[in-house]
This record gives sequence, structure tokens and C-alpha cells, in this order.
Amino acid sequence: MEAKRKGPVIFSEIKPYAGLKQALELGESGVLKLVQDSNLKGRGGAGFPTGLKWKLAAESADKEKFVVCNADEGEPGTFKDRVLLTEYPVLVFEGMVIAGFAIGAEKGFLYLRGEYKSFILSIEKELERMRKDGALGKDILGKKGFNFDIEIRIGAGAYICGEETALIESMEGQRGEPRNRPPFPVDTGYYRHPTTVNNVETFAIITHLAAKGVSWFKSIGTEKSVGSKLLSISGDCKKSGVYEVPFGITIKQIIKMSGAENTKAVQVGGASGVCVSKKEFNRSISYEDLSTGGSIIIFNEERNLLDAVKNFLTFFEEESCGQCTPCREGIPVLIEAVDLLRKGECTQEYLKDLFSLGETMQLASKCGLGQSCPNAFLSVLNNFKKEYSLSKANKKEKKFNG
Ligand SMILES: Cc1cc2nc3c(=O)[nH]c(=O)nc-3n(C[C@H](O)[C@H](O)[C@H](O)COP(=O)(O)O)c2cc1C
Ligand code: SF4
Repeated sequence: MEAKRKGPVIFSEIKPYAGLKQALELGESGVLKLVQDSNLKGRGGAGFPTGLKWKLAAESADKEKFVVCNADEGEPGTFKDRVLLTEYPVLVFEGMVIAGFAIGAEKGFLYLRGEYKSFILSIEKELERMRKDGALGKDILGKKGFNFDIEIRIGAGAYICGEETALIESMEGQRGEPRNRPPFPVDTGYYRHPTTVNNVETFAIITHLAAKGVSWFKSIGTEKSVGSKLLSISGDCKKSGVYEVPFGITIKQIIKMSGAENTKAVQVGGASGVCVSKKEFNRSISYEDLSTGGSIIIFNEERNLLDAVKNFLTFFEEESCGQCTPCREGIPVLIEAVDLLRKGECTQEYLKDLFSLGETMQLASKCGLGQSCPNAFLSVLNNFKKEYSLSKANKKEKKFNG
């Protein structure tokens, strides 16, 4: 078998509009086939196949459809979308135009994190330039009847608005609360019309994929995780920043690449991800092993991981929309448990209850926030037993008190 390429996807060279021109050549069904054949999975965290999402939106008989670029980027430790939007905005917008062409939409929205307002003017300038170039507007790049434009919508600083259905609610002017799914946005999205929501990085990849083809794209990554991933690396390392890596890279390689020393743990996937210990540093970043939207936080031996977990849980307590019971009621119990663990006042019996609560939250919460917020807590309890001590005394047993 031919050795896989290590080279970049997103940071590789590309001429302006090369992807869009090629997409227009391929035609709508050709683009849908290309994206499906590529096995591209969304880079926003959930890893849903992009080709399938677009196909479902394209198949809808509804004449009005929408493309949304999710630039809410609220996961603690993630800043890669910011880099794309400030340094490679046209790559992202071109990907949105290609999506519009493939699914039959005339309108796209960039849902921009409220804290990123500072660069809205430069983004507007880029959109204006694309309009002048004929890459946005009517009869795009001479393709009669293909019209598409992009509008910017600013979020108001709520992490939950990164969840695609809460994002759509927020775009409609409602409280940013997740909807029941199904129906999914590809069927019932913005004002009930089919809507494809994709991450900033996903759109940037689409532009390269259209220009360079499936075999080029598939020549990087692993069998099941095709292509590359942008990682935002921060924490106890000398060279924090945004890196493009091939899927399959190990945690050990990431530690070396970022100049980290004396590493105790690596938090993969931000606050909602898992905390990986030394004995797992051979594990890899991929959909089949450690999946991440891009946040990598490195902790050295001096860090107290229970402090980190409490930090994450406090963040989730503030950001939970409060709609459903497992998430709303479970988070404060986990926060209280961290304090008990720190003081050595948690019994073995209660620890079992905590695991069971965490699992219930993962299974029964309505959206990804509640489903993933116990991950760091559970992985620290499982992988870092030296970080806490259990109560040996015959103290009154701690029970859930709601
Ligand atoms: C609480 C929460 C926050 C999220 N925040 C983001 C975000 O900031 N950016 C993003 O692309 N996806 C985010 N997602 C995932 C989106 O719901 C959705 O899966 C994603 O935008 C789809 O794009 P993709 O298929 O290209 O990955 C979040 C999900 C949850 C549950
Ligand atoms: S899991 Fe949490 S954030 Fe999601 S709907 Fe339920 S309460 Fe809201």
C-alpha cells in the first residue's frame, strides 16, 4: 500500500476560486458525489458525514434552503476557526458557495461568535471583494441562474448557541435553546427550511477538495479518518498555537511538536472532551480513537486535575440552557462531588453513584452539552486515581440530594 502523505490540506496552496470553478464544472450532482466519495466528516466535533448531510438537504423538494457556517467557536481551548476567518476567509466562503450550489440554496449565513466582532469589518471587506469578483451574487462566475450571497449574524456569547439547533433558534431571534431532534436541520432548519450547518474548517476543506479531488484528499490521514485536522494547542507547552496535523497523529507526537515537558495529562476535545493519562499517550487523534473538534490542552505535573475539572464543570453550569433535568440538575452534583473528592470526603459507595449519574447524563441529556459535560470528570476519576483519596472513615454516607 502506498504510504500516506503527511502534507497539509488546509494550509496547502490553492488559487482563488479554483475550488468554486471546479465545482461549477462538476455540476450539482458531481459535487454531491465528490463530497460523499471523499468520506469527509464534519470538523465541528460530532464528525457527521458532510456528503450525507448535503445529500439530504439537496433531496428536499423545498425551494428555499440555507447554508450556515458555524463560527461560534465557544469550546474552551479552541481558536482554530478564528485563524481561518482572519487569515483564510475566502477559503471558507468559497466552501459555503460550493455548498449552496450543491444543495440548491441561494443564501448563506456566517454565524459569528460575539467575541469575534472585532474582525467583522475585515470579513465584510472580503465578502465585498468576492461580490466584485463575481464569486457572490447573481450568475456566480458566469453560471447562469446560480445566485448565492452570504450574510453575517453575530452570536451573543452563549456557548450553547454553537449547537446547531440552538444556533438556528438564535438566528430566528429566539432564546438559544436546542430543539428536539428529529427533525434535523437538513429537513427542518432555519424558519423550518432545509439548512446545512457546517463548521468553518469543514467549508475550508471543501474548497481544497473541489479543486484537488478525492484521491489527493484521501492520501492523507487514516483509513477511517480521512484528511487532516486543525488543532488549537494550549496549556503547559512552549509552542502553543494552531497546527494542521494528519489524522492518526499520536498524543506523544503532539506533546513533542508543541514543546511540552513534564506532561501529566492531555485534555482532548476541550472542556467536553476526555483527559488522557501518560499510559494512553500512544492513542491517536482520529474518529476511531480520540475524536476532537480541535481543542488540545496540555497539563504538566504541577497541575491539579480536580481544579481543571471543577473549572470545566463551572463553565458548563453557567452555559447550560437548563431545559432538561439530567444536565441542569446533574452538573451541580458533580461540582459538589469535586469538592468532596478534594477533601477526601467521598465514600466508595458515593463514587459509584457519581459514575452512574455521569453515565445517565451522557445518555439522557437532550443535547451534546449535557451528554459530554461529564466526560472530563469521569475520565479524571478513571485515569488519575492518585489525584483524589476516598473517605475511609465511617462517615455518614453522601447521597444525592438534588
Ligand atoms: C454545546 C455545543 C456547542 C457546539 N459548538 C460548536 C461550535 O462552536 N462550532 C461548530 O462548528 N460546531 C459546534 N457544535 C456542533 C454543532 O452542533 C454541529 O454538529 C456542527 O456545527 C456541524 O458541523 P460539521 O458537520 O461541519 O462538524 C456544538 C455542539 C454542542 C452540543
Ligand atoms: S443538555 Fe443541557 S444545554 Fe442541552 S438542552 Fe439539556 S439543559 Fe440545555
